[in-house]
Amino acid sequence: MFRRVANSALPQSILVVGSGGREHALVRAVAASPGRPRVLCAPGNAGIADDAACLPVAADDVAGMVALARREHIEFVIVGPEVPLSLGLADRLREAGIPVYGPGADGARLEASKIFAKKLLLKHRIPTAAADFFDAVTPALDYLSTRSLPIVIKADGLAAGKGVIVATTRDEAEAAVRSMIEGGKFGASGRQILIEDCLFGEETSILVVVSGRDYVILPTSQDHKRIGEDDTGPNTGGMGTYSPAEVVTPALLERIDREIVGPSVQAIASEGIDYRGTLFIGLMLTAGGPIVIEYNARFGDPETQVVLPRIENDVLELLWRAARGALAGTVLGTRSEHAMCVVVAAKGYPEAYAKGDVIRLPAKLPPGVAIYHAGTARNAAGDYVMNGGRVLGVTALAAGLREAAATAYAVCDAIECPAKVYRRDIGARQLRRL
Ligand code: AMP
Ligand code: GLY
Repeated sequence: MFRRVANSALPQSILVVGSGGREHALVRAVAASPGRPRVLCAPGNAGIADDAACLPVAADDVAGMVALARREHIEFVIVGPEVPLSLGLADRLREAGIPVYGPGADGARLEASKIFAKKLLLKHRIPTAAADFFDAVTPALDYLSTRSLPIVIKADGLAAGKGVIVATTRDEAEAAVRSMIEGGKFGASGRQILIEDCLFGEETSILVVVSGRDYVILPTSQDHKRIGEDDTGPNTGGMGTYSPAEVVTPALLERIDREIVGPSVQAIASEGIDYRGTLFIGLMLTAGGPIVIEYNARFGDPETQVVLPRIENDVLELLWRAARGALAGTVLGTRSEHAMCVVVAAKGYPEAYAKGDVIRLPAKLPPGVAIYHAGTARNAAGDYVMNGGRVLGVTALAAGLREAAATAYAVCDAIECPAKVYRRDIGARQLRRL
């Protein structure tokens, strides 16, 4: 019988930090490494607990997480969310001698401060929208009066995807400026704001595994950020994704690499940041070319749920090499299949929603389907129950996008949960072009 030989150079005991669909996908990918490592997750969720031991330490409890990693003899930590990264979790773990996938607090500033990111983009002449920064209302309103509409107002700090307002009228723009600077709408993160010209085009997510000056671009994907079909209603954490995003042709990807990815990685390194983790570049594909909307310092959610299943490499080895500064020469193998992830959310999300409704999943899943849990828990009877705004991500991998969509939606329809909602049009833009 054929036996895979474990790569003894890889870590055998891994901790994934976080509790969402992204972390569930990371846990599954890492657990599939041929050496069958021991995988823990903190804090995890009810679905992750089916694949890995979950330990009740909050993702942003830095001291608690370091203590847990030591106690459990963890050899490698993969950090999912941005908040612990911005709090310096990766720095504290590295100080404790534990290798980490995820940047230190310096690199995490690329996401935690939109002003820091914009300054880096402008300094290094990486394509980005014209913008200026303010911490007082009067100069902000003066600047506003010189710009055309629509105009984008952004709170500087982390705001869980909700600190951005694309204003279509002057009144709306002024109200956004006032509420962010004076009204405390976004707490401390809103005291400084960025006013940025509006970009037009299709958005795409470029996830890059970075290790110092070396990097590997992961398969392309596209998210759907608005709650409503046809991209209407408020922004969410992301309602669904597909990969590849074929709007990014091979020639365009080459241009994105040349004009944006390479220069970004070099810019970060030249600022003295030893970045080891995912650099997520949110791009607008404008008529004039690709332009950076934002950087994130972590994997995307739900981009991860379509990107990881399309990677042929051992994902553990890929992330480990990046963490160890040994990424050079890594060649990425990508599966030809298309992936789609449909996020099942709780009715009311991204505003108030109910928790506790029982969820019944189909007993048998079609081939190529994975259900990643995001906001789930178990009740006393042992049933899965809703425990968050985004509840599940249903990923289907199939020969074509149409087939992936049909399969993912058949599973979403079969999930029994009265309060479930999901967008019916994930991937519609690409499907219309087929
Ligand atoms: P961010 O938090 O920077 O990713 O912004 C959230 C969302 O707001 C983005 O995914 C875009 O849809 C939108 N957005 C941000 N900046 C701009 C811009 N300059 N022009 C148009 N849309 C933008
Ligand atoms: N899906 C967008 C994000 O992770 O920020």
